[in-house]
Amino acid sequence: MPRFHLTTFGCQMNAHDSERMRGLLVSLGYTEAPDRDAAELIVFNTCTIRGSADERFLGNLGEARRIKRERPDVVVAVGGCWAQSQKEMVFRDFPFVDLAFGPGEVSRLGELLARERIQAVGAFTFDGRFSGDLPSLRDRDHQAWVQISVGCNCVCSYCIVPQVRGRESSRDPEAILAEVASQAADGVVEVTLLGQNVNSYGRDLPADGRMRFAELLAAVAAVPGIDRVRYTSPHPKDIRGDVIEVHRDVPEVCEHIHLPAQSGSSRVLRAMRRTYDRGRYLDLVARIRDAVPDIALTTDLIVGFPGETDEDFRETLSLVEEVGFDGAYTFVYSPRPGTEAGESMDDDVSPETKSDRISALIDTVQATARERLARHVGRVTEVLVEGRSRTDESRWSGRTRHNVTANFSGIAQPGTLVPVLIETATSTTLAGHVAAVAAPAVVA
Ligand code: SAH
Ligand code: SF4
Ligand code: F3S
Repeated sequence: MPRFHLTTFGCQMNAHDSERMRGLLVSLGYTEAPDRDAAELIVFNTCTIRGSADERFLGNLGEARRIKRERPDVVVAVGGCWAQSQKEMVFRDFPFVDLAFGPGEVSRLGELLARERIQAVGAFTFDGRFSGDLPSLRDRDHQAWVQISVGCNCVCSYCIVPQVRGRESSRDPEAILAEVASQAADGVVEVTLLGQNVNSYGRDLPADGRMRFAELLAAVAAVPGIDRVRYTSPHPKDIRGDVIEVHRDVPEVCEHIHLPAQSGSSRVLRAMRRTYDRGRYLDLVARIRDAVPDIALTTDLIVGFPGETDEDFRETLSLVEEVGFDGAYTFVYSPRPGTEAGESMDDDVSPETKSDRISALIDTVQATARERLARHVGRVTEVLVEGRSRTDESRWSGRTRHNVTANFSGIAQPGTLVPVLIETATSTTLAGHVAAVAAPAVVA
């Protein structure tokens, strides 16, 4: 049986596409190889969001070149966002690559592999099919990703995603609900709905049978067997009152929103074309907290965007403190080819300043997160058990509804929800033990 090796870079969309590739390859009779040297098919699912993502991938591709030299029969396939961005150049610059395909072509991987002469086959159209309709080999037994849309219609000036993932297209709600139902039947208890801008879900669907995002959330939560529903990412400009109400009213919808802010400075947000300013972002946070006071909010932040001054940067720091984020992903701005900022704005913040700002931001994010997570100490929190703790085999690990990793001792079983008494907290994790469950009252 031929063996494949798959390496995934990038975000959850890519991780999910890779589950599909794995499912597809196994259905074609491939088995998974432990490393590239043992594989007849080497696949990369690539990311190009920042220059550093390109570099990381190219380092790995160098190894594939070496293997191809030693074993010319090996097939090297490059899929995903970097491949899409390099569609004109990939076969010219990397002649040892046999097959390249964009993120819209995951469903055609089998067909592309079957071509008689694999040499230099490329596929880069968006065929409008959802990888979610393919067989999947899930990374985790009790949690699943569900793709609800592909592409993005936003024009954030720094971002390459719309170029490489195309226009936004929503998946049919019936197909989504059928997939969730079959996952639930397979033991899944937690689903995460995926899209670049989940909140605009449904706007492009035909009027009959259209569902808004809030309705979809509630419908997914109502699928028997599903205990927890999450989603990522919403764009702050598109979160409406109905979504906040679902968070308040539907118990399965978890108390966590990843709400990418990007910057705390209204001036920078305008240049980024985010279409909200600091004030509107804070208003949204206030409305969410009004409805669900204890909700966890996490975010994405960029430092060193063109023209960002010390004052702009201080506004990002103060936004972190004012909102009180439970966590944040922090990035140094990286100019991307073909984006508005990459093409027409001067990357004028020096590398030293970028590096100083990212360190200061990380410090503030950690201090704020530590303070926020401390509120869980002393509480009994529901944890979905994922498995043994990676650092201590005698303990368990799982996630809380607030999306924080919790490590704990006691009797537990993967895939179940257990009450955990939280004893300590860091800026990213909680620790405790299974809380004694009150004995049922005996009625005399
Ligand atoms: N669609 C999602 C995620 C997009 S990519 C969303 O809008 O929320 C994930 C994050 O990468 C973005 O939120 C942004 O913070 C960061 N990012 C995107 N382009 C970048 C660039 N050119 N330089 C640095 N960070 C970038
Ligand atoms: Fe990129 Fe903006 Fe779309 Fe997110 S919303 S994928 S940051 S263009
Ligand atoms: Fe994701 Fe990277 Fe593509 S962040 S959408 S894999 S460019």
